[in-house]
Amino acid sequence: MTTNTARNSTHNITKIGVIGAGQMGGGIAQVAAVSGFATTVFDAFPGAIDKCKALHAKLLAKGVEKGKLAQADADAAQGRLTYSQSLDNLAGSDILIEAVVEDIAVKKDLFRKAAGLLAKNGILASNTSSISITDLATAVPEISGRFIGMHFFNPVPVMKLVEVIKGLATSEETTARTIALAGAMGKTAVPANDRPGFVSNRVLMPMINEAFYAWMEGVAEPAHIDEIMKLGCAHPMGPLRLADFIGLDTCVHIMEVLAEGLNNPRYRACPLLKQLVTAGRLGDKTGRGVFDYSQK
Ligand code: CAA
Ligand code: NAD
Repeated sequence: MTTNTARNSTHNITKIGVIGAGQMGGGIAQVAAVSGFATTVFDAFPGAIDKCKALHAKLLAKGVEKGKLAQADADAAQGRLTYSQSLDNLAGSDILIEAVVEDIAVKKDLFRKAAGLLAKNGILASNTSSISITDLATAVPEISGRFIGMHFFNPVPVMKLVEVIKGLATSEETTARTIALAGAMGKTAVPANDRPGFVSNRVLMPMINEAFYAWMEGVAEPAHIDEIMKLGCAHPMGPLRLADFIGLDTCVHIMEVLAEGLNNPRYRACPLLKQLVTAGRLGDKTGRGVFDYSQK
């Protein structure tokens, strides 16, 4: 973790609002605050806010313990963080970064409510993994030039990439400011076009889905599938462990976007993956997915 200043004439952003305090929203908010931005995180569910708060305290303390962050910088970051269960408290944000469930209806509903809260020239960004930015922007036609995809990676404090996706109406100025903001947050922005799954999940998610098929068809047991991909292909996590880490519900949502958007049955979510979601086994966030985390 590094600390730098939020004031930058290119992005012109000092105040960030994050919509959704789950694993991605929480991570984005943490990095924003450590990078010097006044940051407010909103979630509709009180349990999510409490969990996010506790995780921030834990991760900032760990950064200090490991010598990656001075105590004063951790305290300052914590001081820049505000948590809210009311969307209205995001009023005046120079950018709103949305990170709620991968569901187009839920996201559009929030955009309609959030657009009016932006500061003058404020940007509305979605952290969607796969949904069309052009489509999401139709919820807020009055500001579609200031609507953009800002796709962070999990865990946000660790992963260096932000995939930046322009919708059909996104302005060059919004794109340049978003890229500058990603840089100010210590990330590297790489552009991708507005196609289902963009680049990252067009490539990653079919591999994860295939690992579920391999398990379902008895090619190998889950731990062995992961071990083979870790040791044989140098992946830091096996695809099934990674699916648990991402969230199996999110994996299904992404496959559904790919299947519909690319109109090809080869992108259908594996029935076993869907079955685990139906059973409430969503991965790390529920304590059990492919693997059991209840003892951790
Ligand atoms: N939040 C914050 N920091 C975390 C973290 C979390 N959830 N999990 C791990 N870290 C940090 C640790 O604190 C540690 O930091 P230090 O180096 O400062 O000590 C560092 O990451 C390494 O962690 P560990 O030593 O505990 O474990 P590891 O070496 O196995 O690394 C990992 C963990 C970074 C998660 C690594 O396993 C990895 O890179 N996994 C693959 C992650 C990946 O592919 N992410 C992309 C998912 S796809 C996506 O995000 C897009 C989408 O739309 C679905
Ligand atoms: P998550 O399930 O951890 O968190 C989602 C949060 O949204 C929860 O805290 C929930 O309470 C909140 N929420 C749901 N409906 C809401 C509403 N109407 N108003 C306010 N808050 C609401 O999910 P996540 O993994 O953080 O994913 C969030 C977004 O980020 C999704 O679009 C996902 O595709 C994307 N994404 C996920 C990953 C990943 O690895 N998990 C990586 C990159 C992008």
